[in-house]
Amino acid sequence: MNKINTFQTTTRTIMGPGAIKNIVAEAKRLGGTKAMIITDPGLVKTGIVNELESLLNKGNIGFSRFDSVEADPSYETAITAAEQVKKDGADIIIGIGGGSAQDIAKVSSILVTNKGPISEYFGIDLVPNPGMKLILIPTTAGTGSEVTPIAILSDHKEKLKKGIVSMHLFPSTALLDPLLTVGLPPHVTAATGMDALIHAIEAFTSKNATDMTDMLAIQAIKLINKNIRTAYANGENLEAREGMLEGSMLAGMAFANAGVTAVHAFAYPIGAEFHIPHGVANSIMLVPVMEFNMLGNLEKFARLAEILGEKTQGLSLRDSALRAVETLRTLTIDLNVPNKLSSFGVKASDIPELAKGVMKVTRLLANNPRVLRVEDAEAIYKRVL
Ligand SMILES: NC(=O)c1ccc[n+]([C@@H]2O[C@H](COP(=O)([O-])OP(=O)(O)OC[C@H]3O[C@@H](n4cnc5c(N)ncnc54)[C@H](O)[C@@H]3O)[C@@H](O)[C@H]2O)c1
Ligand SMILES: [Fe+2]
Repeated sequence: MNKINTFQTTTRTIMGPGAIKNIVAEAKRLGGTKAMIITDPGLVKTGIVNELESLLNKGNIGFSRFDSVEADPSYETAITAAEQVKKDGADIIIGIGGGSAQDIAKVSSILVTNKGPISEYFGIDLVPNPGMKLILIPTTAGTGSEVTPIAILSDHKEKLKKGIVSMHLFPSTALLDPLLTVGLPPHVTAATGMDALIHAIEAFTSKNATDMTDMLAIQAIKLINKNIRTAYANGENLEAREGMLEGSMLAGMAFANAGVTAVHAFAYPIGAEFHIPHGVANSIMLVPVMEFNMLGNLEKFARLAEILGEKTQGLSLRDSALRAVETLRTLTIDLNVPNKLSSFGVKASDIPELAKGVMKVTRLLANNPRVLRVEDAEAIYKRVL
């Protein structure tokens, strides 16, 4: 190691089937008497939010609810949610849902304790004060948002997704209950699971990877690779769901420190403009970006094939790396995730602007194992048009 590295993560995670039952004890431990539940309408329909509310009720913790978080939420939603937190006098926030609901919960918690405006906080370490007490409960496996200091919000005017990165975005506690993910529909299981796998792969191949992040990323890749097909094909399989939830958390811990790379940089412009779900956008970009990136660190991409369970004995580094790419291509086919941008309305004439959008995601391109130019970005988008 020839440079100084920082490692940070959520200080308290509680995981296992039924972990949601710990919500009252956790809220009380943190001094919470009135909670604001931040979630999305899809999750309300599943009955999971009612289950949470009935636990709070029994535990004598007051609550109100902000349940209008949309997919790939806008920064305006965070402002509205924070206003409701203040109006209702909540003293603790509980974010329950996928990355969208959790990110709005995270940003609301810092908007209440900082004067704003929110535009001052986009970027790295620009939030002055710690946020309100916050508990996060992921229900997709997933973004790993429960263990990252990151929140991603859409700016519809600029047609961009922007990140707030601050250690004040870590929750006080993450509660991970695989039972909550059992009802996740197959296509959402596939897309969110691919997002988690890509977090781990990108952390592992990032220029900022360390021994610590590799350890987390390798275990995440193994767990997700072992369980993703079963979780997709048989959502009721609790063991597979538990493996996915643990894998997505470990991947989150890895990328929160090593960073993600160009796959995410390509996913952001198409996600923001063509409303392609985050996991799907990442899955479409994974194979073409890996084929480009592998020359930047053949050794790591070759090791990836082994971690994915492929036999690489006797193969050159290049052939091993290609084996990893092919293994992942097969996975996206098995999971039936879309693999063409045109099926979301992207046209060849959109590519130059989208490629410029990729180049703006400098925060992630700085981690990429291979230097990327705008003409490379255009060529990569063209391959999956
Ligand atoms: N903060 C981070 O570190 C981080 C990392 C990666 C991605 N993100 C962001 O997270 C967002 C994506 O999050 P996501 O992929 O989890 O999707 P999501 O939160 O948008 O949820 C997707 C859908 O799944 C439904 N859903 C969630 N849990 C369910 C359950 N248990 N049963 C049935 N339906 C359920 C939701 O209602 C929603 O309709 C994007 O905005 C992305 O940019 C954040
Ligand atoms: Fe992601």
